Amino acid sequence: MKKTFYITTPIYYINDKPHIGHAYTTVSADIFARYHRMMLGADNVHFLTGTDEHGNKIHQAAKKLDMEPQDFADRMSAVFSTTWDRLSISNNDFIRTTQPRHKEYVIDVLNRMKVAKTPKGNDVLFEGVYEGLYCTACEAFKTESELDEQGNCLDHRTKPEILKETNWFFRMSDYEDKLRELITRDHLLITPESRKNEVIGLLDSGLRDLAISRPSVTWGIPLPWDKDQTAYVWVDALSNYISALGGESSEMYKKFWPADVHLMSKDIVKFHTLIWPSILLSIGIPVPLRVISHGFMTVDGQKMSKTIGNVIDPNDLVDLFGTDATRYLLVSQFGFGTDGDISLDRFNEMYNARLAGGLGNLVSRVTSMVEKYFSGEVPSSNNGDDIFEVADSWKDYQAAIEGFRPDEALKAVWLLIDKANKYVDDQKPWALAKENPEALGNVLYNLLEAIRQIALMLLPFMPDTSKLIFEVLGLDFAKEEQRPLGDLVVWAGLPSGVIINKGTSLFPRLEIKSE
Ligand code: MSP
Repeated sequence: MKKTFYITTPIYYINDKPHIGHAYTTVSADIFARYHRMMLGADNVHFLTGTDEHGNKIHQAAKKLDMEPQDFADRMSAVFSTTWDRLSISNNDFIRTTQPRHKEYVIDVLNRMKVAKTPKGNDVLFEGVYEGLYCTACEAFKTESELDEQGNCLDHRTKPEILKETNWFFRMSDYEDKLRELITRDHLLITPESRKNEVIGLLDSGLRDLAISRPSVTWGIPLPWDKDQTAYVWVDALSNYISALGGESSEMYKKFWPADVHLMSKDIVKFHTLIWPSILLSIGIPVPLRVISHGFMTVDGQKMSKTIGNVIDPNDLVDLFGTDATRYLLVSQFGFGTDGDISLDRFNEMYNARLAGGLGNLVSRVTSMVEKYFSGEVPSSNNGDDIFEVADSWKDYQAAIEGFRPDEALKAVWLLIDKANKYVDDQKPWALAKENPEALGNVLYNLLEAIRQIALMLLPFMPDTSKLIFEVLGLDFAKEEQRPLGDLVVWAGLPSGVIINKGTSLFPRLEIKSE
């Protein structure tokens, strides 16, 4: 494993408040960041998220409310960051493209591109006329082949604008060969494989030069040498991954660049694997190591849309289920790289079955019995065997999370939870209490120890719950958290004789009526 880990989410457009699709990416990135902090130490992990605030899409949204774009951006960006706080997102930084630190870096990048030459000896930037289509909702130039039969954008089902304007162009076509080499050799790793193949397909159909400035857009960063033109919002936005580190001369850049993971969904892989690396190549910066695309989430079988009225606000889920349950429910619904559907009914069912009935029930019944039979003192154990084969669970869990499959890591944890619950049913401690008190001590010790191991595994996923379980077990969470994972996972790490603190129920059962 590398010694440092830098993970990013997309910076989200602020024309509207966040929905659970954005939350899915951000919670997943948070899980990976927290896991890597456990492995590498907090100082060696950097987790960045933020907001994308320039361009016509945002300008129009501000105008609709009769607001100045900056005031609108301030208000909306705060909605994103407070939502992330409510979801216990542990980002180390929050970048906004309207911040001076970002704008300065973008101007530096543009100035350097302006004087640079491509590998073929051409000027990286040149003036030209763009005649074609533009979808403001995507903030992207479109070709006919990217539209449906009615001529609408495939993602937004709206008609793109017809543009004819003089722009500065980026000679991206000169980077086609280099990009193909980086991607096919996995120096820029794209996962899942299907997404990588799509990008190679795009390269095979030929990389076109890209307009990197817009004369008709005013809300953005003006080109330093041509103030009538505004930097194309994607060139502006993609630079955030380095502007946030403080630019290339910063210590943060030296420590963390190239990024280990740019996480996103399939809608914007193309921008991150073609445009972003070409920009970096043009000014001699190493490209990111990996782009991971997760699937697209639909709600009750449909794309989330205001018109359909099925947009789910993650804050509403936190109100209903609490922070950790929302995190669990979001990532456990479907395989990470594939598209998937969610429904409030299923959230409700899974909350009751897995959280209240599975994890919550295990902790509550085991701690109740320890209180009842041992006055709350962790019994001593004389067998010391890893009877649940927790070491194997760790192997599955780590392989899944290190392979960026958080849903599978959770499955490994729940197999262990189910095993422990079954062990209670099989061993019947209430019967042992009468017949065999020594065996009862062993059984309850095994269960408490399994719960400790489960709490450790849950740390990246459900940080507050994990902490709470440590406290229930009478352990000092802050102290435990500092210990290397290798020591913590050793079976029978729970000291006997400690007094547990059986608290309130972790996940009270919910009666949620669907409308
Ligand atoms: N501002 C650009 C990104 C610039 S990054 C340099 C942008 N913003 S966005 O607000 O539209 O965010 C897109 C991302 O949000 C997706 O790639 C994905 O991470 C997340 N999702 C948005 N809707 C989603 C679903 N329905 N399902 C899963 N993820 C979703 O593009």
